[in-house]
Amino acid sequence: MGKSIVLLGSQWGDEGKGKIVDLLTTKATCVVRYQGGHNAGHTLVIGTQKTVLHLIPSGILHAHVHCLIGQGVVVSPTALLAEIQMLQGQGVEIKDRLWLSSAATLVLPYHVAMDKAREQAKGTQAIGTTHRGIGPAYEDKVARRAVRVCDLLDLALFQEKVIENLDYYNFILQNYYQQPPVLLEEVLTQAQNALETIKPLIADIPAQLLAYRRALANIIFEGAQGAMLDIDHGTYPFVTSSNTTVGGVPTGSGFAPTALDEVIGVTKAYCTRVGSGPFPTELTDNAGQVLAERGREFGATTGRSRRCGWFDGCAMRRSVQINGFTGLAITKLDVLDTLAEIKICVGYRYQQQHFELPPIESEVLQACQPIYETLPGWQTSTLGITDWGNLPKLAQQYLRRLETLIEVPLAMISTGPERNQTIIMREIF
Ligand code: GDP
Ligand code: IMO
Ligand code: MG
Repeated sequence: MGKSIVLLGSQWGDEGKGKIVDLLTTKATCVVRYQGGHNAGHTLVIGTQKTVLHLIPSGILHAHVHCLIGQGVVVSPTALLAEIQMLQGQGVEIKDRLWLSSAATLVLPYHVAMDKAREQAKGTQAIGTTHRGIGPAYEDKVARRAVRVCDLLDLALFQEKVIENLDYYNFILQNYYQQPPVLLEEVLTQAQNALETIKPLIADIPAQLLAYRRALANIIFEGAQGAMLDIDHGTYPFVTSSNTTVGGVPTGSGFAPTALDEVIGVTKAYCTRVGSGPFPTELTDNAGQVLAERGREFGATTGRSRRCGWFDGCAMRRSVQINGFTGLAITKLDVLDTLAEIKICVGYRYQQQHFELPPIESEVLQACQPIYETLPGWQTSTLGITDWGNLPKLAQQYLRRLETLIEVPLAMISTGPERNQTIIMREIF
């Protein structure tokens, strides 16, 4: 019997989704991206080789696996081309293994220009986006003016649609933001350069997924970003522009939600966040520095420093509520190895109130004080441990506390960046 599972970030992104997807892929037929774009950066470490993927699903390094990009993803042809070339340079073949939805929205140079112009104009109030044009591309989709992958198949039509959009974008760029216009030439040349490579990948993803399901294949849906960055459920407006929570799977891939078997939440043993926005458990002291340094907390896409903090059980409760996780994959346990004590946020205090769940208003969330439980650290290395029984007792105690707090059973524990540095608590496939 084939199984269809969702693996998604339960916090603010960068939980280690790439590693976990790559690990599980040994038993899967296909891996599917269903939202986000090349704002994502998923790191895979195999021996000394590190690969960072932005658009292509994290199953690509396994030769037997098919990788699908659903119509909920916003696709930059230039970024996709660069990633394919990077993989080919490593000897990874994508022919007959990578498929792209004909209905996916394209990210084009005018989206990037608009993203940058807006962020610059906002100054200190900026969201801290990845400047990849993701927000404006999703806006086009909802505004029903998007240029899509299928439009690339008829360049005359493509040009017509781009001219119409450029008219609109350049007016705003020049008159509102006082920025230079984006040239039609640039948009056309970039698309044309990518066309030859992209054309053979274009497919009907919902039909293909149904065929895999009928063939009883194991399927992995790979989330990008994390639940707290969801456009509807996250810390709005400091979010990304897609549904990063489980609802994004059926809408972004065309796979029937009734056919999903499991939802695994990938969760750091602490918390990080890149970009602006409320982050109640953020640390600015020595402990935060330890997390940043030991966890090498620099963005895989932009290289920016990630803000670090203690595990936030309150935000996690919301994440569990929305996603209905059937299991947790806890990552980066080894990063906590040197700490004498470790805190877990179990609720928030705001004025005289106590919150079990994060408030909706970002201004209120910003003012919330975390309520902590303190646990003793194990102060010994867990790096690379593959058996639960070999973990220090205090590390077991910490993990069990997270499990009971969140009320989701542990499925996997990651003790290092490499594939095999993992404790399997329960076989997913
Ligand atoms: P993603 O966006 O969720 O795929 O995560 P990123 O790749 O952006 O960031 C996770 C980082 O942590 C990467 O550099 C991984 O190689 C690394 N990583 C993943 N799991 C572990 C782990 O268990 N321990 C350590 N030390 N690093 C890990
Ligand atoms: P992965 O898949 C962490 C953040 C940005 C910014 C906000 C909006 O690697 O976990 P955007 O460019 O999407 O409009 O930026 O979302 N962000 C991420 N943070 N991991 C990611 O992806 C992210 N993708 C976007 O930093 O705060
Ligand atoms: Mg990342």
